[in-house]
Amino acid sequence: MRGLVPRQVSFCTKSQNLFFSTDVEGAIAAADIIFVSVNTPTKTYGIGAGKAANVKNLELCARTIAKVSTSDKIVVEKSTVPVKTAETLKRVLKANQRPGVSFEIVSNPEFLAEGTAVDDLRNPSRALVGGDPTPEGRMAVSTLCSVYEHWISRDRLLTTNLWSSELSKLVANAFLAQRISSINAISALCEATGADVNEVGRAVGADKRIGPYFLRASVGFGGSCFQKDILNLVYLCQTYGLHEVAEYWEKVVTMNDYQKNRFAKNIVGRMFNSVTSKRIAMLGFAFKKDTGDVRETAAAYVAKNLLEEGATVVVYDPKVTAESMFMELEYTLGMTEATFPELKKRLLLVGSHEEACKNAHAIAIMTEWDEFKTYNYEELYSNMVKPAFLFDGRNIVDHSALRKIGFEVYGIGTRGGSEEAIAAAGAASM
Ligand code: UGA
Repeated sequence: MRGLVPRQVSFCTKSQNLFFSTDVEGAIAAADIIFVSVNTPTKTYGIGAGKAANVKNLELCARTIAKVSTSDKIVVEKSTVPVKTAETLKRVLKANQRPGVSFEIVSNPEFLAEGTAVDDLRNPSRALVGGDPTPEGRMAVSTLCSVYEHWISRDRLLTTNLWSSELSKLVANAFLAQRISSINAISALCEATGADVNEVGRAVGADKRIGPYFLRASVGFGGSCFQKDILNLVYLCQTYGLHEVAEYWEKVVTMNDYQKNRFAKNIVGRMFNSVTSKRIAMLGFAFKKDTGDVRETAAAYVAKNLLEEGATVVVYDPKVTAESMFMELEYTLGMTEATFPELKKRLLLVGSHEEACKNAHAIAIMTEWDEFKTYNYEELYSNMVKPAFLFDGRNIVDHSALRKIGFEVYGIGTRGGSEEAIAAAGAASM
């Protein structure tokens, strides 16, 4: 290999083996293995709009690779793609390849999560490498495995056929998201019955067959992956005429939307059915902690609902910029100053949590940033309008300590849940 020499792929600091370049064509020509890691967002137009993945960037890469390659290459599909995308890559490469040059496609999906990407890379639960069951395909798979073997033990290198590998990535994300939607569904039931979702999650997750991870109830999952990949899976099922299967997976997204709306409705309901002209401090806007990424963040949905109810929303997030916040509202929710003239007067991003909470009627915790657990809530309380509400969309702060200070506290799936659920439970017990 020239572009990427297996011997050098390690996490040692002795020899330099990571280079950055904008010379795409030069880098392709020099490499033996090419990772295609372009983004594949949900299509916003045409066939499959709103569900199918847009693989335009991938096809463009294939065309460039075919154009500039003068030697054999292994092309690694790293992007998250619909099943059978490797077929597209193969056909585009084959139709455009120079005489004497051949390509092998290998699927090697990405399992890194934001905020923990370097740890996930160094110590992955597994690396998946899928290829064609031909001698050339097997050779390409084993070449890529030999790169990973420099830091990943052989038992964690899973080899499969191309389609299993492509599908496994979508299914892994769908299963993770399904767990969150499942526990979020149960959070509504906990609020109605007096059970505590943290306790239920702990009890359920203690069963080894279920496991403790991804059972934290929240205001809803966000990010650029889960919803996109489930919708991609749904579209795939619909394409194959598997409508019941499509509906099954689509419900994971429906439940997530329900949870986001439920949180916003609860804020309005608890604050005497009106937030008009009230100031709500939003702590966190990123879709999870340790990142400034706001794509598909639940905070944007909740902010939109509250703005439409007449509130002023003052956001503090350690990493999010005003530019990305407004961009997300526009891109995902279609909310701009043109559609909502008071947007920039009633949605503000400030530089500290103290500033956000000053004179606020309520605090809404949207992201599980660790620093939110360390604040001086007594001081924040003293500067708020009374009764001072706190809605914990991540169940991260100490609710009983906050109640002692004087806050009226509502978590997700814990004591003092949504008004609607409690009213329904009251009606049911009569
Ligand atoms: C996710 C997967 O976890 C990665 O394995 C995958 O590689 C990645 O998508 C991808 O497809 O590229 P990511 O979206 O970065 O990673 O973040 P997650 O940690 O999965 O969190 C997603 C959302 O679920 C966040 O909004 C998080 O707050 C929420 N979440 C997570 C919960 O609400 N409850 C939980 O128990 C766990």
